[in-house]
Amino acid sequence: GSTKLWGGRFASGPAEAMARLSLSTHVDWRLAPYDIAGSRAHARVLHHAGLLTDDELQRMHDGLDVLAGDVESGAFQPVLDDEDVHTALERGLLERVGADLGGKLRAGRSRNDQVATLFRMWLRDATGRVATGVLDVVEALTSQAAAHPDTVLPGRTHLQHAQPVLLAHHLLAHCQALLRDVARLRDWDARTAYSPYGSGALAGSSLGLDPQAVAEELGFDAAVDNSIDGTSSRDFAAESAFCFAMLGVNLSRIAEEVVIWNTAEFGYVTLDDAWATGSSIMPQKKNPDVAELARGKSGTMIGNLTGLLATLKAQPLAYNRDLQEDKQPVFDSVEHLELLLPAMTGMMGTLTFHTGRLAELAPAGFTLATDIAEWLVRRGVPFRVAHEASGECVRLAERGDVGLDELTDTELAGVHPALTPEVRDVLTVAGSIASRDAHGGTAAPRVAEQLDRVRSAVRDH
Ligand code: ARG
Repeated sequence: GSTKLWGGRFASGPAEAMARLSLSTHVDWRLAPYDIAGSRAHARVLHHAGLLTDDELQRMHDGLDVLAGDVESGAFQPVLDDEDVHTALERGLLERVGADLGGKLRAGRSRNDQVATLFRMWLRDATGRVATGVLDVVEALTSQAAAHPDTVLPGRTHLQHAQPVLLAHHLLAHCQALLRDVARLRDWDARTAYSPYGSGALAGSSLGLDPQAVAEELGFDAAVDNSIDGTSSRDFAAESAFCFAMLGVNLSRIAEEVVIWNTAEFGYVTLDDAWATGSSIMPQKKNPDVAELARGKSGTMIGNLTGLLATLKAQPLAYNRDLQEDKQPVFDSVEHLELLLPAMTGMMGTLTFHTGRLAELAPAGFTLATDIAEWLVRRGVPFRVAHEASGECVRLAERGDVGLDELTDTELAGVHPALTPEVRDVLTVAGSIASRDAHGGTAAPRVAEQLDRVRSAVRDH
């Protein structure tokens, strides 16, 4: 007979184009191990409810074990007639334990509660892998920060030289964002750790099954409180797609800096050969493709999020087949991240920073002008006046093509009577950085503390 799950009321099978449209095994086959785990748990509650004998439960579990092995080895594969992963695995079970026993497993469950549960299970594992990959990137950045305790560079706003900062401080800024990405995935998991199994098609089960027992066996905190919500809500999927897109955007911002830093004009970094690519025509080229792929893939991940939200937006309760489109974008984002994260770790961990070049540029563009203004403020000059005076110094220095520290005593005094020669004490990159010593600032002791906190956050995750 047919192995379709819904043949009874139909006189004919589906048209070929109907079957092709319906098919999802090319996407959802990766849920197979979770589907089998769900079936094991479901068999147990059927047994508990008196719907399977001891012997039937044993044979069912044995059959599921064999099926799991055949799925893993590739001996069992979906065929065109299998609408989805659930249909295929039911066929596999029937082939292994016979139709009489195999046909009992579907009681009290629906593909609607199954797929909602399995998707959550797959995603909870996947987000764990993604979080681990992000922590590896953070470790690559912290090891660079630790290797460069006193490397300076011009901090920028609007991409213009702004104020000198420690390279470690800059790299740790990216770590802060990535640690929030990891924390977001953990927060997401707490909301997603509820099992829809037992919700049935939408209304729950009449067979005395225990959704809490299934939830526990499948590693969830509890069963969902509402079977309609359990089968039709996908905010967990959209939220994960947001977490991935946000992570992608944060990686893209790191990547964009690497692209810029690697230009001849900036000359901040050299990429390790293992994490760069060449050109098929220009022999001299060494391109930052890892960084560019990070930038490009973030666009794809943003698209996955917006596409999924659009799919969800107007669906009435409860399950609609539109929901079959929910998995591909999320799987796709995870696939991109699992490729990208190890490469970002490799690229960032092996970057060579040209510390001499960075130090030379750090004071360029009058990045110490704010230090003059704040020095005057410490002498009692109102900031509004101090800002004007410092600006005047910049104008003089620019006109004379000299650094701020090269203005003469007379020039300084001419700008403002409070501008005595001692102001030159703060007109060094080191002095400027050391002076920004409040919590969160770029002074070396604060950055060292920050590095410790970031490293212990990585360890605690
Ligand atoms: N393959 C479907 C999905 O991924 C689950 C099957 C539900 N089908 C149905 N006709 N209710 O959403």
